[in-house]
Amino acid sequence: MKQQLEEIRAKAAQALQQARSLQDLDAARVRFLGKKGELTAILKGMGKLTAEERPVIGQLANDIRADIEARIQQNVEQVKERMQEEKLKAEKIDVTMPSNKHELGHKHPLSIVLDEVKEIFYGMGFSVASGPEVEWDYYNFEALNIPKEHPARDTQDTFYITENMLLRTQTSPCQIRVMEQQKPPIRVIAPGRVYRSDAVDATHSPIFHQIEGLVVDKGITMADLKGNLESFAKSLYGEDTKIRLRPHHFPFTEPSCEIDVSCFNCGGKGCPMCKGEGWIEILGGGMVHPKVLKNCGVDPDVYSGFAFGIGLERLVMFRFNIDDMRLLYENDMRFLSQF
Ligand code: DAH
Repeated sequence: MKQQLEEIRAKAAQALQQARSLQDLDAARVRFLGKKGELTAILKGMGKLTAEERPVIGQLANDIRADIEARIQQNVEQVKERMQEEKLKAEKIDVTMPSNKHELGHKHPLSIVLDEVKEIFYGMGFSVASGPEVEWDYYNFEALNIPKEHPARDTQDTFYITENMLLRTQTSPCQIRVMEQQKPPIRVIAPGRVYRSDAVDATHSPIFHQIEGLVVDKGITMADLKGNLESFAKSLYGEDTKIRLRPHHFPFTEPSCEIDVSCFNCGGKGCPMCKGEGWIEILGGGMVHPKVLKNCGVDPDVYSGFAFGIGLERLVMFRFNIDDMRLLYENDMRFLSQF
């Protein structure tokens, strides 16, 4: 029996030496030490031994069991170590490899200028309002004193969704929405996207951006309009900038005007940028028409106001000397990365 036990010790040692994985080791444990294992099988025959032999063999069996267990334990650790090493090897990072470049983006030129404009108006006590791009005919035209069949509709032909719903052609409907929701004093700008069924060319796009402005309070006059917009122009183009008001017509303002700034390129002498005029038109405005105030429940005998509309693309094109509006929408990195 002694010999049988020593044989098991040797067999186990050999099997463990060949074991390569945790599964191999577990299989060896079952084979030698398990309930139906070889060692157990031999110990079952202990009953046949004499009283003197029994403790000796028992001692030996225990030694061998301990021996095999220790070897298994040792091997388990070795296998684990080797697995860890292999894992680390597989995960090794070569820090000398060239990396994938993640280029940091930046603001679109339209956003650069819009943010500047917002900053200027914040400084003058304005807040920012907004309205939906899909708008009711009522807000886009009717309430702004542009009834059905009014010729002003022809120049702002648009994309109708239903008879009474359309893509807004201007940000002016925001005036109505603000006055419906807010009692004077009102001081807001409303920047946003507008739509017109214009053919695309260097200065036209069916989608473009406007910045609406509206101030309503007691005692607001044309002088406030001029003062506010002069401050705005000076902040945007420099202290030496002058503005000029030219009479114009908009159905929702009375009187109405267009406002030019002295050319920031030549200072007013005349150059290719201002087409020799010395002035560049940047916005339309006027005193809010009493009918428009009334449409919004504002009493024109108590309150007055001025409004204006700025074309954002024009500001951007002049600011960065861009001669084709389409560049602003094409997402060409060769163009955009210049800003
Ligand atoms: N909505 C006008 C347009 O798209 C621009 C405009 C002119 C807005 C005068 C105004 C304004 O608020 O008072 O042509």
